[in-house]
Formats: sequence, structure tokens, C-alpha cells
Amino acid sequence: MNDKPDLSLSIAGIPFRNPVIAASGTFGYGREYAGLLDIAALGGICTKGLTLTPRAGNDGIRVHETPSGLMNSIGLENPGIPAFLEKELPALRELGPVIIANLSGSSVEEYAEGAHLLNAAPIDIIELNISCPNVKAGGMGFGLDPGAAAGVTRAVRRAAANKPLMVKLSPNAPDLCAVASACVAQGANALSLVNTFKAMAIDIYRRKPMFDMVSAGLSGPGIRPIALRMVWELCEQVSVPIVGMGGIATASDALEFLMAGAVAIQVGSATFAHPPAMNEIITGIAAYMRQYQIPSLADLAIRKTA
Ligand SMILES: Cc1cc2nc3c(=O)[nH]c(=O)nc-3n(C[C@H](O)[C@H](O)[C@H](O)COP(=O)(O)O)c2cc1C
Repeated sequence: MNDKPDLSLSIAGIPFRNPVIAASGTFGYGREYAGLLDIAALGGICTKGLTLTPRAGNDGIRVHETPSGLMNSIGLENPGIPAFLEKELPALRELGPVIIANLSGSSVEEYAEGAHLLNAAPIDIIELNISCPNVKAGGMGFGLDPGAAAGVTRAVRRAAANKPLMVKLSPNAPDLCAVASACVAQGANALSLVNTFKAMAIDIYRRKPMFDMVSAGLSGPGIRPIALRMVWELCEQVSVPIVGMGGIATASDALEFLMAGAVAIQVGSATFAHPPAMNEIITGIAAYMRQYQIPSLADLAIRKTA
């Protein structure tokens, strides 16, 4: 009987104790969840999307629940990278999990300057966010087209030569495989997907779109089967590690992504509804591996990646 399945993994040389990572924008900078779950037990934490200068985020309604998910239009509210490094990172670093800084921007130059600052900081991995659907300039704009994705990946790769680079992809890209391949060709060490799906809601009492920016990003259980299909297809196409996400709320959900070929998973919306979800996912994955005598995470994949 295999009593201690091995949940560890590494991405671009960074060791993780397990494959469960808090998704960007849903876990603040860690301290917000103190006392609500065992943060030290997590594999990793992705920060909220960070930009070079502070951003106030979008006006109007910012979140709206759907029958099987959540729509958001936060607009990358964040204190800016210098303030993050000074005020948030020291305590975040103390929590224990791998620290992944989610980097966003409105122009290639802004992304590169932000990457330059993160390159010198004690973070473990940069997650290059080219998939935020809720900003007027930049964001998802870079993630829809292979040429634009290649340009920003190249610039960030150059500016942050010391850090592993994971590019976070948009499910809204017309040709996701082409965008993924372009990022890998420019030096991405890993890919994460999916960010939210562009969606909309109408407030029938105000007779207006629910969100000031009209569209918003859909996450949660409703997107899971589509996200899973995208992860499966990309695992066939690219040779770098893939971190899967989209609607994962239970260990069974996480196991589907790991079986599809993801090396790790992220959990976002589920943490809002049930803060200990990630802890339960970790113990549930271990229990499954024990029950079915699966010695290590890599043995979970049901098809070997390219
Ligand atoms: C309120 C909210 C804020 C988010 N902010 C960010 C962000 O700043 N950067 C980013 O890359 N993704 C952001 N996301 C996307 C999540 O990290 C994740 O990709 C997406 O929600 C799908 O996972 P889920 O279905 O488990 O929530 C945000 C999602 C939500 C719900």
C-alpha cells in the first residue's frame, strides 16, 4: 500500500510541495485569507495582476453571480509593483508557498519595465497576464494574436532573464494553439490557462448592461468543461509544463485537469464560496492517489504530453 503519494512537482526548476495554486485576483496577497484556510499547505500563490503604476480599477458593478459561475470586471485594481514589493511581498514571502507574481500592463514597454522590477525581487515565477478581458488598453489584447503575444513575451523574457516565465493565456483567442506556440518560441517556460471568458449580463431593471464596460470575465464551474478541453488540446501541442484552471472546486475537478496533462492547477472562484476548498483539494488528490496506488503526480496523466 502506497501511504505517502508524492504530490511534489517542479516548474522551470522551482519546486512545489503540491500542485494546488491560488489563482490570480482571487486570493489578494495572501493576508486577506489569514485564519480562513491553511495557507502554508498550498503549493503556490499567484498575486493579483500587478502593473507598473497603481490602478484604481473599474467603476460600477464589479462582480455578478451567474447560475454556475461568477462574472467580474475588476479592472486590475492594484497598488503598483513598487508598493507591492515594499508593502505586500515581505509578508507574502513568509507564508511558505511558491510566490508567483501576475504581471499586467497596457503597453509592451510597461510590461517590460514591470518585469525588470520583478526580476530583482524575491518572487519565484512571473505569470505574464496577456488575458485580462476587463481593461481598455492592453491586457487580453496581447493574448488574442500570436504576433502580439510573441512581442510582449520576448520583451518580458529579456527584461526578466533571472525568473521563470509562465504566460497566462486567454480562452478568447481565436487560435489558442498559435498563441501558445508563439509564447513558447519566445522563451515562455510554462503556460497557464484559462483566464476568464468574455461574457455579458443586462440589468433588466436599469435597462442597461450590468457592467460599465459592457462585457466582463466569466469564471467558475460553468467554464470547466471548456477549460479542460483547451488544456487537453494544448498539452498535445506544446512541450512546456501547463498549469490548468477554470472552475475547479473539488479534488475530482482538479484530477480531471491533472489527467488531461496539466502539471499543476489553480483555483479561483471556488475560494470565494468556500475558502478551505484548496486545502480539501490537496487532501482529496492525495486520498485518490493512495486509493488507486498512484505513486506520483506525473503518473496521473492519462496521455503522455508531446
Ligand atoms: C474577481 C476575479 C479577479 C481576477 N483577477 C485576475 C487578475 O488580476 N489576473 C489574472 O491573470 N487573472 C485574474 N482572474 C482570473 C482567475 O485567475 C482565473 O484565471 C479564472 O477566474 C478562472 O479560474 P476559476 O474558474 O477557478 O475562477 C480573476 C478572476 C476573478 C474571479
